Amino acid sequence: PASVDIATPVVRWQADHGRNHLPWQQTRDPYRVWLSEIMLQQTQVTTVLDYYPRFLARFPDVAALAAAPVDDVLALWSGLGYYSRARNLHRCAQQVMSVHGGAFPDTAEVLATLPGIGRSTAGAIAAFCFSQRVPILDANVRRVLTRVLGFGDDLAVARNERLLWERAEALLPNTHLEEAMPRYTQGLMDLGAGVCTPRGPRCGACPVEALCQARREGEPERYPVKARK
Ligand code: ADE
Repeated sequence: PASVDIATPVVRWQADHGRNHLPWQQTRDPYRVWLSEIMLQQTQVTTVLDYYPRFLARFPDVAALAAAPVDDVLALWSGLGYYSRARNLHRCAQQVMSVHGGAFPDTAEVLATLPGIGRSTAGAIAAFCFSQRVPILDANVRRVLTRVLGFGDDLAVARNERLLWERAEALLPNTHLEEAMPRYTQGLMDLGAGVCTPRGPRCGACPVEALCQARREGEPERYPVKARK
Protein backbone atom coordinates (compact mmCIF):
# COMPACT_ATOMS: atom_id res chain seq x y z
CA PRO A 1 0.00 0.00 0.00
CA ALA A 2 1.26 3.47 -0.85
CA SER A 3 2.41 5.55 2.11
CA VAL A 4 0.95 8.94 2.90
CA ASP A 5 2.64 11.78 1.02
CA ILE A 6 4.68 13.66 3.57
CA ALA A 7 7.41 14.47 1.03
CA THR A 8 5.50 17.16 -0.88
CA PRO A 9 4.58 19.23 2.20
CA VAL A 10 8.00 18.70 3.84
CA VAL A 11 9.84 19.89 0.71
CA ARG A 12 7.66 23.00 0.42
CA TRP A 13 7.94 23.75 4.15
CA GLN A 14 11.72 23.41 4.02
CA ALA A 15 11.96 25.98 1.24
CA ASP A 16 9.74 28.45 3.14
CA HIS A 17 10.61 27.82 6.79
CA GLY A 18 13.71 25.60 7.00
CA ARG A 19 17.36 26.50 7.49
CA ASN A 20 18.91 27.41 4.13
CA HIS A 21 21.92 29.55 4.95
CA LEU A 22 24.19 27.23 6.89
CA PRO A 23 27.68 27.19 5.32
CA TRP A 24 27.56 23.47 4.47
CA GLN A 25 24.31 24.03 2.55
CA GLN A 26 26.03 26.36 0.09
CA THR A 27 27.98 23.52 -1.56
CA ARG A 28 27.51 20.04 -2.98
CA ASP A 29 31.19 19.20 -2.41
CA PRO A 30 31.03 15.86 -0.59
CA TYR A 31 34.20 16.69 1.37
CA ARG A 32 32.56 19.78 2.87
CA VAL A 33 29.21 18.10 3.44
CA TRP A 34 30.86 15.03 4.99
CA LEU A 35 32.91 17.22 7.38
CA SER A 36 29.76 19.08 8.49
CA GLU A 37 27.79 15.88 9.07
CA ILE A 38 30.58 14.36 11.20
CA MET A 39 30.90 17.55 13.27
CA LEU A 40 27.09 17.77 13.68
CA GLN A 41 26.78 14.16 14.89
CA GLN A 42 27.44 15.08 18.52
CA THR A 43 27.88 18.87 18.44
CA GLN A 44 25.39 21.76 18.28
CA VAL A 45 25.09 23.86 15.14
CA THR A 46 26.32 27.04 16.91
CA THR A 47 29.56 25.32 17.96
CA VAL A 48 30.09 23.78 14.51
CA LEU A 49 29.69 27.24 12.93
CA ASP A 50 32.82 28.23 14.87
CA TYR A 51 34.98 25.15 14.14
CA TYR A 52 33.96 24.36 10.56
CA PRO A 53 35.57 27.33 8.75
CA ARG A 54 38.83 27.00 10.73
CA PHE A 55 39.05 23.31 9.90
CA LEU A 56 38.45 23.99 6.19
CA ALA A 57 41.02 26.78 6.13
CA ARG A 58 43.69 24.37 7.37
CA PHE A 59 42.41 21.32 5.39
CA PRO A 60 40.72 22.67 2.23
CA ASP A 61 40.27 19.27 0.60
CA VAL A 62 40.41 15.56 1.30
CA ALA A 63 44.00 15.29 0.02
CA ALA A 64 45.22 17.93 2.50
CA LEU A 65 43.45 16.18 5.38
CA ALA A 66 44.78 12.73 4.42
CA ALA A 67 48.36 14.05 4.17
CA ALA A 68 48.34 15.79 7.58
CA PRO A 69 49.72 14.26 10.77
CA VAL A 70 46.85 12.95 12.91
CA ASP A 71 48.00 15.20 15.77
CA ASP A 72 47.28 18.28 13.59
CA VAL A 73 43.75 16.98 13.02
CA LEU A 74 43.25 16.34 16.73
CA ALA A 75 44.56 19.83 17.55
CA LEU A 76 41.94 21.47 15.30
CA TRP A 77 39.26 19.18 16.76
CA SER A 78 40.23 20.21 20.30
CA GLY A 79 37.07 21.31 22.12
CA LEU A 80 34.61 19.38 19.95
CA GLY A 81 35.02 16.20 22.02
CA TYR A 82 34.42 12.61 20.97
CA TYR A 83 37.95 12.35 19.57
CA SER A 84 37.27 9.01 17.89
CA ARG A 85 35.38 11.15 15.36
CA ALA A 86 38.59 13.01 14.51
CA ARG A 87 40.62 9.81 14.22
CA ASN A 88 37.95 8.26 11.95
CA LEU A 89 37.86 11.50 9.95
CA HIS A 90 41.56 11.20 9.24
CA ARG A 91 41.31 7.47 8.42
CA CYS A 92 38.34 8.16 6.16
CA ALA A 93 40.29 10.81 4.24
CA GLN A 94 43.17 8.39 3.77
CA GLN A 95 40.80 5.67 2.56
CA VAL A 96 39.17 8.06 0.06
CA MET A 97 42.66 8.76 -1.30
CA SER A 98 43.95 5.18 -1.35
CA VAL A 99 40.80 3.22 -2.28
CA HIS A 100 38.73 5.78 -4.23
CA GLY A 101 41.39 7.79 -6.06
CA GLY A 102 40.70 10.96 -4.07
CA ALA A 103 36.99 11.22 -4.96
CA PHE A 104 34.25 10.51 -2.41
CA PRO A 105 31.96 7.65 -3.48
CA ASP A 106 28.63 8.89 -4.89
CA THR A 107 26.29 6.29 -3.39
CA ALA A 108 25.19 5.76 0.22
CA GLU A 109 26.04 2.07 -0.03
CA VAL A 110 29.72 2.74 -0.79
CA LEU A 111 29.95 5.79 1.49
CA ALA A 112 28.88 3.54 4.38
CA THR A 113 32.03 1.41 3.91
CA LEU A 114 34.18 4.37 5.08
CA PRO A 115 35.36 4.86 8.69
CA GLY A 116 32.96 6.90 10.80
CA ILE A 117 30.17 6.93 8.18
CA GLY A 118 27.11 4.96 9.27
CA ARG A 119 24.00 4.36 7.22
CA SER A 120 22.30 7.64 8.17
CA THR A 121 25.37 9.85 7.56
CA ALA A 122 25.93 8.04 4.25
CA GLY A 123 22.32 8.76 3.30
CA ALA A 124 22.63 12.44 4.21
CA ILE A 125 25.80 12.90 2.11
CA ALA A 126 24.32 11.01 -0.86
CA ALA A 127 21.05 12.97 -0.70
CA PHE A 128 22.67 16.39 -0.25
CA CYS A 129 25.52 15.99 -2.78
CA PHE A 130 24.16 13.53 -5.34
CA SER A 131 20.37 13.75 -4.89
CA GLN A 132 20.34 9.99 -4.35
CA ARG A 133 16.94 8.68 -3.30
CA VAL A 134 17.94 7.22 0.08
CA PRO A 135 16.61 7.79 3.60
CA ILE A 136 18.29 9.07 6.75
CA LEU A 137 17.39 8.04 10.29
CA ASP A 138 19.36 9.98 12.86
CA ALA A 139 17.86 10.56 16.33
CA ASN A 140 15.87 13.65 15.27
CA VAL A 141 14.46 12.08 12.11
CA ARG A 142 13.67 8.85 13.96
CA ARG A 143 11.48 10.90 16.29
CA VAL A 144 9.71 12.70 13.41
CA LEU A 145 9.01 9.52 11.46
CA THR A 146 7.93 7.33 14.40
CA ARG A 147 5.42 10.04 15.31
CA VAL A 148 4.07 10.58 11.78
CA LEU A 149 3.73 6.83 11.29
CA GLY A 150 2.59 6.00 14.81
CA PHE A 151 5.45 3.48 14.83
CA GLY A 152 5.28 2.15 18.38
CA ASP A 153 7.55 -0.89 18.23
CA ASP A 154 10.69 -0.99 20.36
CA LEU A 155 13.61 0.30 18.28
CA ALA A 156 16.13 -1.55 20.45
CA VAL A 157 14.92 -4.65 18.57
CA ALA A 158 17.01 -4.94 15.38
CA ARG A 159 14.09 -6.16 13.29
CA ASN A 160 11.98 -3.12 14.24
CA GLU A 161 14.85 -0.77 13.40
CA ARG A 162 15.08 -2.46 9.96
CA LEU A 163 11.32 -2.10 9.48
CA LEU A 164 11.50 1.62 10.28
CA TRP A 165 14.24 2.05 7.64
CA GLU A 166 11.86 0.39 5.15
CA ARG A 167 9.04 2.73 6.15
CA ALA A 168 11.45 5.68 5.78
CA GLU A 169 12.31 4.52 2.25
CA ALA A 170 8.63 4.30 1.32
CA LEU A 171 8.15 7.95 2.35
CA LEU A 172 10.86 9.39 0.05
CA PRO A 173 9.89 11.92 -2.65
CA ASN A 174 8.83 10.27 -5.90
CA THR A 175 10.01 13.09 -8.15
CA HIS A 176 13.46 12.98 -9.69
CA LEU A 177 13.81 16.75 -9.49
CA GLU A 178 17.40 17.45 -8.43
CA GLU A 179 16.39 19.58 -5.45
CA ALA A 180 13.80 17.24 -3.94
CA MET A 181 16.09 14.91 -1.98
CA PRO A 182 18.32 17.63 -0.48
CA ARG A 183 15.26 19.64 0.56
CA TYR A 184 13.35 16.66 1.92
CA THR A 185 16.37 15.45 3.92
CA GLN A 186 17.10 18.90 5.32
CA GLY A 187 13.38 19.40 5.98
CA LEU A 188 13.16 16.30 8.18
CA MET A 189 16.27 17.46 10.07
CA ASP A 190 14.81 20.96 10.50
CA LEU A 191 11.47 19.60 11.71
CA GLY A 192 13.23 17.36 14.24
CA ALA A 193 15.42 20.20 15.50
CA GLY A 194 12.82 22.96 15.76
CA VAL A 195 9.24 21.65 15.57
CA CYS A 196 8.95 17.95 16.37
CA THR A 197 11.01 18.28 19.57
CA PRO A 198 11.30 15.60 22.26
CA ARG A 199 9.13 17.60 24.70
CA GLY A 200 6.44 20.10 23.78
CA PRO A 201 6.40 19.58 20.00
CA ARG A 202 4.94 22.56 18.12
CA CYS A 203 2.39 20.58 16.12
CA GLY A 204 0.63 23.77 14.97
CA ALA A 205 3.79 24.71 13.03
CA CYS A 206 4.22 21.30 11.40
CA PRO A 207 3.50 20.80 7.68
CA VAL A 208 2.40 17.20 8.25
CA GLU A 209 0.21 17.74 11.30
CA ALA A 210 -2.88 16.54 9.42
CA LEU A 211 -1.06 13.34 8.38
CA CYS A 212 0.48 12.57 11.77
CA GLN A 213 -0.71 9.45 13.60
CA ALA A 214 0.83 10.53 16.93
CA ARG A 215 -1.05 13.83 16.69
CA ARG A 216 -4.30 11.95 16.08
CA GLU A 217 -3.60 9.82 19.14
CA GLY A 218 -3.04 13.02 21.13
CA GLU A 219 0.24 11.99 22.78
CA PRO A 220 3.12 12.67 20.36
CA GLU A 221 5.70 12.60 23.18
CA ARG A 222 5.04 8.88 23.54
CA TYR A 223 7.23 8.34 20.43
CA PRO A 224 9.82 7.03 19.83
CA VAL A 225 9.05 4.08 22.09
CA LYS A 226 12.05 3.24 24.26
CA ALA A 227 13.09 -0.26 25.22
CA ARG A 228 10.59 -1.32 27.88
CA LYS A 229 12.07 -3.33 30.68
N1 ADE B 1 22.52 18.08 11.81
C1 ADE B 1 22.98 17.11 11.02
N2 ADE B 1 23.01 17.49 9.75
C2 ADE B 1 22.56 18.76 9.71
C3 ADE B 1 22.36 19.70 8.70
N3 ADE B 1 22.64 19.40 7.43
N4 ADE B 1 21.88 20.90 9.04
C4 ADE B 1 21.61 21.18 10.32
N5 ADE B 1 21.77 20.34 11.32
C5 ADE B 1 22.26 19.13 11.02
